[in-house]
Amino acid sequence: MSRRRVAILISGRGSNMAALIEAAKAPDYPAEIALVISNRPEAKGLERAKAAGIPTLVIDHSGFGRDRESFERALDAALKAHAIEFVCLAGFMRLLTPWFVGRWENRLINIHPALLPAFKGLDTHARALAAGVKIHGATVHFVVPEMDSGPVIAQAAVPVNEDDTAETLAARVLAAEHRIYPMALRLLAEGRLRVVDGRCHIVDARAAGGLLLAPEI
Ligand code: GAR
Repeated sequence: MSRRRVAILISGRGSNMAALIEAAKAPDYPAEIALVISNRPEAKGLERAKAAGIPTLVIDHSGFGRDRESFERALDAALKAHAIEFVCLAGFMRLLTPWFVGRWENRLINIHPALLPAFKGLDTHARALAAGVKIHGATVHFVVPEMDSGPVIAQAAVPVNEDDTAETLAARVLAAEHRIYPMALRLLAEGRLRVVDGRCHIVDARAAGGLLLAPEI
């Protein structure tokens, strides 16, 4: 089986990256993590990737001043040089321009710690608590130029408990993130996602069977 070559872009601790690396160890997983790029030299995830034997690169955005596109051209060139087919953003805290997003259209996905379209942006857990929602979660979606807005691939829901703090809720959501991101990448790498009119359809999806984790694969 030839596996699709995937790069992961990180800015921080890289726990979602680690979940993808772990999933890709399975012999039947349709993707291999061929490259990890961080825009921050101090990102903890870099050490985790190296320890797993994955090639890493630092492309420090601060070296490019305010010129977002030249930073992204460097990113794009590195992805090409490593023959990357799909890109996963995993805690990559840089907005990407329409130029980059257009180049990677339908091949660039992100994980967001909320049930989109609720709670786009930062501090999602504190905002979910402040809003008093009873169910919260995470979303994997295709990246489009508008932040946290692309077609939804997969979502996982978790309960919000009465005594939750932003930290306890974040931990519960993060565990869900680690489950759905590998599921979503599998669907992408298997060629089972079709985006039509801004909605993502899953070819041959199984019914979720009442479980608040979608899609079941
Ligand atoms: C994750 O919770 C991810 O969903 C979030 O950052 C965290 C990164 O953690 N991403 C965003 O907020 C993107 N807007 P990780 O580095 O341990 O994967």
